[in-house]
Amino acid sequence: MADLEGMKVAKDYHVDVPFANDKGFYVKGANALDWGMKKRLAHIFNPKSGNTVMFAFDHGYFMGSTAGLERLDLILPKLVPHVDVLMGTRGAIRSCVDPGLASNKAIALRATSGSSMLQDDLSHEVLAVDAKDAVRMNADCLAIQTFIGAEGQLSSLDNLSKAINLGQQYSIPIMGVVAVGKEMERTPRFFKLATRILAELGANVIKTYYCDDFEEIVAACPVPIVVAGGKKLPEKEALLLAYNAIRGGARGVDMGRNIFQSQNPVEMSLAINKIVHEGYTDQDAYDFFRSEIGKR
Ligand code: 5RP
Repeated sequence: MADLEGMKVAKDYHVDVPFANDKGFYVKGANALDWGMKKRLAHIFNPKSGNTVMFAFDHGYFMGSTAGLERLDLILPKLVPHVDVLMGTRGAIRSCVDPGLASNKAIALRATSGSSMLQDDLSHEVLAVDAKDAVRMNADCLAIQTFIGAEGQLSSLDNLSKAINLGQQYSIPIMGVVAVGKEMERTPRFFKLATRILAELGANVIKTYYCDDFEEIVAACPVPIVVAGGKKLPEKEALLLAYNAIRGGARGVDMGRNIFQSQNPVEMSLAINKIVHEGYTDQDAYDFFRSEIGKR
């Protein structure tokens, strides 16, 4: 391990210079991966836009039933047709997603568990889904929560590395999920550290949060970043978040509450698609969102 003495502060991110190792496959950092890995990544990231709209409904794995997800059986059929990727637990997907309706949807399978809202420290989890069940679920990636800077840092990075080892064996990409617990600061410094650690450990996709200096975080991360929506915002603000993330170099969003807690979740998912895949500005997407309300 390099000694920390005299460490220079990183500052040259060349944010205006595109990722160099992009010859051959359009997903960042995936050039040298196996065919199966590339095929699954191509199922996640639209080959035309290079981006993805992940709909996150895995909150129940530690929150139980949360507002907007009280009835998975009612909300999922409405939203599945309008997103690219279903980010959920195997329990939710097996019990409430019609495989026919999801036939052309990618699956980002929540594969860690072990925490609940009854605890203060949520950072101790286990790798709960084995590779064979991930294959049975036809998962296109496994989502692994990581807790950089928290008590559970070591065990969560051990879960990530175990998942990456299995992912390499079965050609299933791994998405490293940056958790922001109570103590963990939501600063560019934290997100730069966390996203880079996960990528260095071998994660093929990183899910993190939008923040200041986001372009530097993207430039320093050699694999694609998708941005979580976080707590529910007014739709206009959530669309601005999505727009800023894509403009800053994110290859998509992984939104949950800002879709399923919207009064108009279908229209919200359609508007997010406009930003992620069709280059809409936040204002254009919001105008589109308003124009779609009442049509269905
Ligand atoms: C919940 C998660 C969610 O996948 C992630 O936070 C995205 O959901 P939201 O947009 O609601 O934050 O990790 O455990």
